[in-house]
Amino acid sequence: MDSRPILVTGGTGTLGRAVVARFLADGVPVRVMSRRARRAEDDRPYEWAVCDLADGTGLDDALADVRAVVHCATNSRNDVATTRRLVEAARRSGVPHVVYISIVGIDRVPLPYYRAKLEAERIIRESGLPCSILRTTQFHDLVATVVRVQRRLPVVLTPRGVRCQPIEVTEVADRLVELAQGAPAGRVADMAGPEVRDFRDLAEATLRAAGLRRRVVSVALPGKIFRKMRAGGLLAPDRTVGTRTFEEYLAARARAGRS
Ligand SMILES: NC(=O)c1ccc[n+]([C@@H]2O[C@H](COP(=O)([O-])OP(=O)(O)OC[C@H]3O[C@@H](n4cnc5c(N)ncnc54)[C@H](OP(=O)(O)O)[C@@H]3O)[C@@H](O)[C@H]2O)c1
Repeated sequence: MDSRPILVTGGTGTLGRAVVARFLADGVPVRVMSRRARRAEDDRPYEWAVCDLADGTGLDDALADVRAVVHCATNSRNDVATTRRLVEAARRSGVPHVVYISIVGIDRVPLPYYRAKLEAERIIRESGLPCSILRTTQFHDLVATVVRVQRRLPVVLTPRGVRCQPIEVTEVADRLVELAQGAPAGRVADMAGPEVRDFRDLAEATLRAAGLRRRVVSVALPGKIFRKMRAGGLLAPDRTVGTRTFEEYLAARARAGRS
């Protein structure tokens, strides 16, 4: 087996943590990239690379002698520049495989963040580096967080008529880990969660699970972005490969003592 580590950018984030955990469970050497120093009490068996993709600090060291990069780092402001910087450095270091996580619907819903993801995909595809690109729907965590951040308000607002198809982040992580250890596959089939659900319905389920009695108010939001979302722009109903439902996700959180 190749003993060189796989670098996980954003290895401290929601998805990156799940990717790192899965590599460790499989006994695959892994290097976590973060802008922060490693915590003194963190004794898990991975390497740690302090790196800021916004200016490239630490990047060459982070990439030294890795056999693949799983690129999970994200930042709402500068994903294009950071991805370009990562790709250029990866080419210099001769990294054999870049795996990128992207989002279903980035070519349909004109959110600025989605436009940046589309451009980041293009940069990776056209870099000449061997790559694999996976688009998934929203993670359960993201949907629940959008509701939880409103928990102190008298009502919880949701966009009227918007459906999504949330997916369990560990299922996405499993697929990325599989891709990273296989041959570069280019853009692979999208992954979506098991159920198409109205955002309002997911908000009510989140509040119930947290034992919160709040009224959910669906707001008709104007503009092209929400029109495209209402038209199903976030969905991939023919790719319902995720198995864990939103209610199962909420129940697991409750069992772990998190509401
Ligand atoms: N959330 C969803 O529903 C969803 C759905 C489909 C695809 N995705 C994609 O999945 C990826 C991960 O999303 P997530 O929700 O896991 O993100 P997240 O929890 O917000 O984590 C972001 C990560 O990016 C790192 N990061 C941010 N700026 C950085 C910089 N300048 N240099 C180096 N690292 C930096 C952070 O590391 P430190 O803070 O430790 O530096 C953190 O680990 C993203 O590409 C996102 O578009 C997300």
